[in-house]
Amino acid sequence: MASDKVFAAIMGYGIVGSGVAEVLNMNRDKIASSAGRELKLKYILDIRDFSSSPMAELFTKDFTVIENDPEVKVVVETIGGVGVAYDFTKRCLLSGKHVVTSNKELVAKHGHELLAIAAKNNVNYLFEASVGGGMPILRPMVTCLAANEIESVCGIVNGTTNFILTNMRECTMTFEDALKQAQQLGFAEADPSADVEGTDACRKISILADLAYGRLVRPELVQTEGIKNVSVRDVEILRNFGAKIKLIARFVYSGGKLMIWVAPHVLLPGHPLINVENADNGIMVKGNALGEAMFFGCGAGSLPTASAVIADMVDAVRHTDKRLDIGWTDCGSDWISGGEDFISRWYVRDESGEGHITSPTDASGVSMHMVKYRILE
Ligand code: HSE
Repeated sequence: MASDKVFAAIMGYGIVGSGVAEVLNMNRDKIASSAGRELKLKYILDIRDFSSSPMAELFTKDFTVIENDPEVKVVVETIGGVGVAYDFTKRCLLSGKHVVTSNKELVAKHGHELLAIAAKNNVNYLFEASVGGGMPILRPMVTCLAANEIESVCGIVNGTTNFILTNMRECTMTFEDALKQAQQLGFAEADPSADVEGTDACRKISILADLAYGRLVRPELVQTEGIKNVSVRDVEILRNFGAKIKLIARFVYSGGKLMIWVAPHVLLPGHPLINVENADNGIMVKGNALGEAMFFGCGAGSLPTASAVIADMVDAVRHTDKRLDIGWTDCGSDWISGGEDFISRWYVRDESGEGHITSPTDASGVSMHMVKYRILE
């Protein structure tokens, strides 16, 4: 085991933060050998009382203890949201500490600014866990596919809605029960409407597009529809011909323009993403040299997400002197639109009618239908 130590802190001891502490302890030697130094947890920041925890002596309610301790080099932000998480992240970066996070809301909304602050202070702001949970996607897309122009990305990026739709289709649970269980299993957001309404998927696809093009894609520009209106009737009709409804986040880049949206889509038998079930995530990336690659793995939950957070901690420790150069610039919104003009087949159903699949058309070709979901080709 490496003898040298690097001190770390966790801000927010919720599902992901507690998972980070657990995995740091469980895999201490392996992590030390990957990082080249022991990653030693010095503080855990949380406003709640953890005096009966076996790690009680690490807890503090005072952020300035972490901020002012020069020994702490890596800080994990798992508070979530854009309130104190934003303030504390900024202050950690300004005081020369690397920050690692799973907070997609913060990265999607303020990543642009936080990455600029990190660059100025020669530290890293890393967020692999913000998309795909434990499934590697951001680093492979940026590094392994660096030779490619990214032509499109589409995928299942929200574990909670995938879990709900899987269980509705298999008739094992109602929407409400499946959501309750996703909350109990630690997949859902603190406010699960972010999952159900597609906001979480919207933040994740924005981050993927930010990184793919090095240009800011504000989440509020992403046309977003969640799964609230997906009815048992459509799930059943589609099940009869082996098809499934899944919440898909996607973008397509062509001629300098980006079409980006989140919506329930129909996947026909044989589609590579059709068997991505429960809380798993699956993302297909198309590059102009590689063609298509697919990433698959556990998209939510305590230890899987901690796995990605700690990989970033290791990366930060291995790059203490040389910053990883990632970021994106604000080029306005003229190059961004929703998916209205994108041509595909659709599943449609009128109030009285049976469901059927149309010929390829843009959104205007199906505007008269009560129920319409794109086929994911
Ligand atoms: N609520 C999120 C999901 C957690 O269900 O995918 C992981 O980002």
